[in-house]
Amino acid sequence: MTKIVHVLNGPNLNLLGKRQPELYGHETLGDVEKLCAETARSLGLVSQFRQSNLEGEIVEQIHAARDTAAGIVINPAAYTHTSVAILDALNAFDGPVIEVHISNVHKRESFRHHSYVSLRADAVIAGCGVQGYALGLQRLATLLQA
Ligand code: DQA
Repeated sequence: MTKIVHVLNGPNLNLLGKRQPELYGHETLGDVEKLCAETARSLGLVSQFRQSNLEGEIVEQIHAARDTAAGIVINPAAYTHTSVAILDALNAFDGPVIEVHISNVHKRESFRHHSYVSLRADAVIAGCGVQGYALGLQRLATLLQA
């Protein structure tokens, strides 16, 4: 049976392509969704792509993944650095979790150097642009085969 993976995106990523393109590039979230769908298909997976600006909604998306998803790729955006609630939700998810950041957060302000989500993530990809999502899905596929 084809495995479903969830690709979750946090606040302000709906503005991708318009928001600070020097940091995040010119691709839109629609482009990223397409990239994820194509990459997942090539790996024999199906991706379900979501974005929310609301912390509680992301927590609920992670809860929903408990029933439907084999793994999660998540770019929690600013909630990466603040959200114990998202960390707790991910800790209640059994499959592999890959954390993705478009920019290299370690090259940026010191408050971006800490990630609550990294305490749960099986891998962290940062600074690869939107290609990081494709790399995250590839890693997820490897972990799901193991
Ligand atoms: C981000 C990095 C975060 O620090 C920031 O708040 C974002 C996007 C990234 O993809 O590089 O919104 O997660």
